[in-house]
Amino acid sequence: MERLKMMPKLDIKLPFMKKKKKKKKLYEQYKDSLLTYLTSPSKIDRHPDYIKIDKFHRIIASVNYPRVVDPGWLTRLIEMNLDFDLSIHIKPYPIESSISMLESEIKKQKTDLYALEAEGKIIPQSLIQKHQDTIALLNQIQQGREKMFDMSLYIDAKSYDKKGLDKITSRIKASMASIMISPKVPSYQMYTALRSVLPIGCDELHLTRNITSSAAAACFPFAITSLEHHATGILIGFNQVNNIPIVIDPFELSNPNVLVLGTSGGGKSYCIKLMLMREFMEGVDINVIDPQAEYTDLTKRFEGKVIRIAPDSDTVINPLDLMGQSYDEKKLSLLSFFRVLMGELTETQRAILDDCIDSTYEDAGITRDP
Ligand SMILES: Nc1ncnc2c1ncn2[C@@H]1O[C@H](COP(=O)(O)OP(=O)(O)O)[C@@H](O)[C@H]1O
Ligand SMILES: [Mg+2]
Repeated sequence: MERLKMMPKLDIKLPFMKKKKKKKKLYEQYKDSLLTYLTSPSKIDRHPDYIKIDKFHRIIASVNYPRVVDPGWLTRLIEMNLDFDLSIHIKPYPIESSISMLESEIKKQKTDLYALEAEGKIIPQSLIQKHQDTIALLNQIQQGREKMFDMSLYIDAKSYDKKGLDKITSRIKASMASIMISPKVPSYQMYTALRSVLPIGCDELHLTRNITSSAAAACFPFAITSLEHHATGILIGFNQVNNIPIVIDPFELSNPNVLVLGTSGGGKSYCIKLMLMREFMEGVDINVIDPQAEYTDLTKRFEGKVIRIAPDSDTVINPLDLMGQSYDEKKLSLLSFFRVLMGELTETQRAILDDCIDSTYEDAGITRDP
């Protein structure tokens, strides 16, 4: 027994021992190709300065950036209400390489400045400024206050036709130029460029420029006020400028009132009805005072109660309904109700009213003690 255990396991495969291969299930067999089939376009049409995959795409790269940027400086770009995707790649640059790169840059700048001086030429202010900037940056990196990154920015402009694509391209280029970015359409590289804007995190185009941490932080264009929304809110609409959804819960506001303004026929009632329906779906109790019977159909559609208030109406509102209030609370609000109905009451009248309310409730079997 002991010996048997010690024996190495034999692994001989004889033809008759061969296990019958199980047939793969049809789904398993086609799983990968099915996914490819469902997700890939039927055709990609490549052209020197655009690419066609259902829509026409043109990638616009940024090749030059402003010297200084403010936080949210890209806001103007993303707020364009055009059909485009924006892709930013930010890759850390090793500190040692940053330092040696900056050191050789400073040396080069010094040589240039010296050469100009030796020739007796006027030194341009921009060159001096650049030299000072580079020295300051090197200091900050050495002190660990800044880091260097490689950044690239691409925009994928989209349109259903070539003419539209040209139009949107020039608008995007103008917008980029307005924030001091130099746009460039990388000709004969559209496919590579398209892969660089896809959300797969690969920058194959590699039109990078090195930036500091503070400049990288300032890039984030997503810090715009219109993105603020309440988690429990309902969709109110879309920001006309940037198409960002506006989701608000009026009950989260310090004063939950809503005022809708607009020209007549502009869709105010439509907007309110939509809001009511969305609030209703969130479980909010809805009461509408509706002098023009505009909400009757909507109320019926949601199986609500229509109460017609008129002398000949067979439905009434019962102001004595407790509606979840305690007896004492209800009585207080009833006294205010009668004051509205009949004007200011004297002490005696109020006492009589008080007794009447009590006895009315008593008749209905409702007393102060629950
Ligand atoms: N977003 C919308 N989508 C489709 N139709 C709308 C929209 N907004 C308004 N309408 C239509 O426009 C017309 C006028 O809207 P309405 O809400 O009655 O305007 P208002 O109350 O401002 O006078 C209605 O027939 C309404 O159905
Ligand atoms: Mg209206």
